Amino acid sequence: MLTLHPMKEKDLPQVAAIEASIFSQPWSEKGFLDALHQKAAFYLVAAEEEKILGYCGFYQSFDEADITNVAVRESERGRGMARAMLTELLKEGKNRGVAHFTLEVRVSNAPAIHLYEKLGFTSAGIRKNFYDCPKEDAMIMWRHEALD
Ligand SMILES: CC(C)(COP(=O)(O)OP(=O)(O)OC[C@H]1O[C@@H](n2cnc3c(N)ncnc32)[C@H](O)[C@@H]1OP(=O)(O)O)[C@@H](O)C(=O)NCCC(=O)NCCS
Repeated sequence: MLTLHPMKEKDLPQVAAIEASIFSQPWSEKGFLDALHQKAAFYLVAAEEEKILGYCGFYQSFDEADITNVAVRESERGRGMARAMLTELLKEGKNRGVAHFTLEVRVSNAPAIHLYEKLGFTSAGIRKNFYDCPKEDAMIMWRHEALD
């Protein structure tokens, strides 16, 4: 059965392995561990029994939250997992007083941009050469709760 739950330390080896399999500059297991110890951060995973299928999370500062990670195992994509995780993440953020969510995404990452647009995020501009390996611009996206 598929469940969504807050990320726990025991999830970190799988989370870091998924991260390393997807991103050219992945967060380390230690990076996720640090996030779990921050009160301002919230991370969740989608899991089937003990198998982690995806994860996402944010760092909050006052009424803003920066969504820092969103990923789904390649074999599990296209079945609504990211949408379900982010819907839960936004709900948790709102419960914590977040009114404005932001994130950056590679301008070439059409699947992620479509996903964020479906969830009400809009582009607020481009940050030139934001990413390395390969160098690429970032699209900065925001979702403002008050405008819903
Ligand atoms: C982006 C990502 C998280 C989407 O995960 P997913 O579980 O496959 O997404 P979902 O099945 O929930 O799809 C939700 C929406 O995303 C969009 N989407 C997802 N995959 C897409 C694709 N290959 N092409 C176009 N749009 C896509 C669609 O708008 C979809 O809505 P629809 O089903 O109504 O058309 C996944 O592809 C991934 O992990 N990519 C690698 C990591 C990454 O790029 N993370 C984002 C960094 S900013």
